[in-house]
Amino acid sequence: MLSGPITEMGPPANASASYLRTSLIRTGGGAAGTNDTMCGIAGYVGGRPAAPLILECLKRLEYRGYDSCGLAVQTSGGLFLRKAVGSIDGFREQVLGLAPAGTVGIGHTRWATHGVVDVRNAHPHVSCDGAIAIVHNGVIENADRLRTELAGQGHRFASDTDSEVVAHLIEEGMRQGQSFDRAFLALQERLLGTYAILAVHRDHDCILATRKGSPLVIGVGNGEYFPASDIPSFLPLTPRVVYLGEDECYSLSAGGMDRLAVQGDLAVRRHDVPTPEAVSLSVESISKGNFEHFMIKEILEQTGTLERLIREAPAAIHDVVPLLKNSKDIVFVGAGTSYHAALFGQYLFAAVARRHVDAYVSSDFEHHVDLLGPDSVVVALSQSGETADTLEAVHLAQDRGAPTIAVTNVELSSIARLSQHVIPLFSGPELAVAATKSYTAQLAILALFGESLASDLPADGTRPLWEARDRLFNLTSEAARRHTREVGRELLGAQQAFLTGRGRHYVTALEAALKLKEVSGLRAEALHGGEMKHGTLALVENGTPAIHFYDQQDFRRTEIAAAELKSRGARIISVGPQPLASSDQHIRVEDAGIATPIVQVIPMQILSYELAKLKSMDPDRPRNLAKSVTVP
Ligand code: M6R
Repeated sequence: MLSGPITEMGPPANASASYLRTSLIRTGGGAAGTNDTMCGIAGYVGGRPAAPLILECLKRLEYRGYDSCGLAVQTSGGLFLRKAVGSIDGFREQVLGLAPAGTVGIGHTRWATHGVVDVRNAHPHVSCDGAIAIVHNGVIENADRLRTELAGQGHRFASDTDSEVVAHLIEEGMRQGQSFDRAFLALQERLLGTYAILAVHRDHDCILATRKGSPLVIGVGNGEYFPASDIPSFLPLTPRVVYLGEDECYSLSAGGMDRLAVQGDLAVRRHDVPTPEAVSLSVESISKGNFEHFMIKEILEQTGTLERLIREAPAAIHDVVPLLKNSKDIVFVGAGTSYHAALFGQYLFAAVARRHVDAYVSSDFEHHVDLLGPDSVVVALSQSGETADTLEAVHLAQDRGAPTIAVTNVELSSIARLSQHVIPLFSGPELAVAATKSYTAQLAILALFGESLASDLPADGTRPLWEARDRLFNLTSEAARRHTREVGRELLGAQQAFLTGRGRHYVTALEAALKLKEVSGLRAEALHGGEMKHGTLALVENGTPAIHFYDQQDFRRTEIAAAELKSRGARIISVGPQPLASSDQHIRVEDAGIATPIVQVIPMQILSYELAKLKSMDPDRPRNLAKSVTVP
């Protein structure tokens, strides 16, 4: 539901006056005020009414943010502007009946990084005279200085955002006699920071588009264009795409696409535009299909994604094995779920490759990097390839001369493009905010790394993964899901839950706890299996759920720990090959050797999903979160 008002902004009283291909940037700090770094932008120009198409495109960008949204469409009487706090669905309901049939427009879906979520700060932002509207994704680092300068020239600001300066800068340029094109091009001379910008003017039948350090691609249809932050946004409407280079500027109209260039004081339009490329991504891969949510679709895809990975990854990792073998230090870095994968890598390398490796949270990497050098190798794990902390870690590693390997789902992402080697996850787009199939793929890649280092025959390394794939298949069956749903029902009233595991199963406890927290809003704490009695036991009350992950090897010790918890009132949920004596509920997961964590996490993904549904939460869009965290 729409949780805020819709505002219409005509000319104010004081009217005197880019999954796929992104950028190579260090995400900088922002200006004071509200920065809009993790947002989605989309536009339409062509022969059809723009508003419904923009809303459709924005809907597919909601994974980039869903705090607030807005659109601006050209009409004969000026720009039609609507903004709201809340989701695209609610916004669409209220806007579609009102929107004019204008064929040029832009829109935005926002994830606020600073400042409050409100209609004032939602995009598009307009110039003082209401003639120009812009949407922006990125951080304008010199926004404060530009605001002061523009205010001195009589401009009045309606929001706290850094983005709004863009509309006023274009307006100021035009006031001083520049054309719309030239004033837009001048942004490159004035803006510091990162941006993908779309601009419309009430008197010009075009969208102007540019980018620097933020993603922007252009979908090319027949006499129509769909500029957007990401390809899935327009993929069902056109599979042809133009990738914008850094600092390139384009004008898009029903008549065609031109590149804008500066010639002295003027702007010229050039017809030498790139030939659109066909996108290999299928529409199905970015659609929910018959599924209720992306999260469950992506959970159930894992049998297939793992199978593809097992077939294709050994060839992909072939080139990096000598680098790993010959390096003095191996370091894994990642954030959130990707950090959990890094930690799995640490356990796995010790067990399989007999190598000590370090695993660091990306944002902590700076405290360790001084120990690295050209004979080290840093493996950056990131589904999106855009996580700012991980990107920064890659920069830091490279500053020390250490080569980096990106293990990512987005082969043209910033982290991938910066790294010397890229290992794909073979998972297809992951659109739910919660990482699921990308996590099991990361574990599988690390398992292959480990096996390859242990043996000269990397092909052998796939055996445990095949075993995991078979178990995975069983765990996603309808019967298994029904059982997991029942376990989830028992967690409905719980205020807190504790999850434990030893060795690599501790990693599963961490990842399962993260899923329960982010997706189903349960306060879940992961502890190493031996740590409970060293303090946290004090929090256990009658009925507190305690979830244990183990394999045959850990069975005895887990039984003892679970019994201690049980005698203090805990309700024991066990996830392993056979129930514990104290189990109240059991989810059977047979051992799959080193690949067991790939399998054990599946019921926990399903359980988090089911619990969210039971609580009437949206599993795809957890509160306060966005898919790619592109702010440090
Ligand atoms: O795209 P990345 O893998 O770099 O993202 C890192 C984390 O933001 C991400 O794993 C996050 O923790 C997920 N929401 C977890 O489900």
